[in-house]
Amino acid sequence: MKYFILFGPPGAGKGTQASSMAAEYNLCHLSTGELLRKEIAAGSELGLKAKSLIDAGALVPDEIVEGMIESAFRTTTGVSGFLLDGFPRTTAQAAALDSMLAKSGEEVTAVVSIMIPDSMIKERIRHRAAIEGRADDASDETIDNRIRTYHDKTEPLVGYYREKGKYHEIDGTGTIEEVRAKIFSLMGKL
Ligand code: AP5
Ligand code: MG
Repeated sequence: MKYFILFGPPGAGKGTQASSMAAEYNLCHLSTGELLRKEIAAGSELGLKAKSLIDAGALVPDEIVEGMIESAFRTTTGVSGFLLDGFPRTTAQAAALDSMLAKSGEEVTAVVSIMIPDSMIKERIRHRAAIEGRADDASDETIDNRIRTYHDKTEPLVGYYREKGKYHEIDGTGTIEEVRAKIFSLMGKL
């Protein structure tokens, strides 16, 4: 099985690019953000726990997302691998992923990172707010917190995966089609 991590700051275009990547390479797209939003919409206990943290632009506890990922790995069949979007997001989650995969003698295949500057994050998220109505896109304070959380807790993963020789970065500032072409050209070499 292949385990690709689709990495990048909020609004970089992970969700936008994931579906064509998943279709092209027969991967199961797993977005922890989307899974959490489904739990919130369903009014589950897990959703209730996650809601206030997500609305504040903070991360939900590592154990919650690790559990969601592990259960998806266990129950998904008929794919060549997984495309992890928004996970891992802390070095603890990255270590947990490594040990989950090591149990079956597997490892992360590669990290595909879509990079955009902070100024563009706000522009992209403001644009999406008008279309999708995500609660965590609604206020500047929440967006600023997500950007801060990304730099503090998630960006250290760049070094984590670079050291393992698994980190590949794409310039995410072009059009959706330009970014997709760059991703496909990279994926073809991985
Ligand atoms: P999550 O859902 O993962 O949100 P995020 O990381 O903030 O990323 P986004 O979904 O905002 O951005 P994206 O890169 O998918 O951009 P998109 O393609 O939509 O997480 C939400 C929350 O859940 C977190 O804050 C946290 O609380 C919690 N959570 C999730 N995972 C967790 C974890 N592992 N641990 C702990 N907590 C976790 O694009 C954005 C917009 O830009 C769209 O409108 C799109 O059309 C547009 N766009 C995309 N590409 C382009 C382009 N090239 N040119 C122009 N416009 C573009
Ligand atoms: Mg997304």
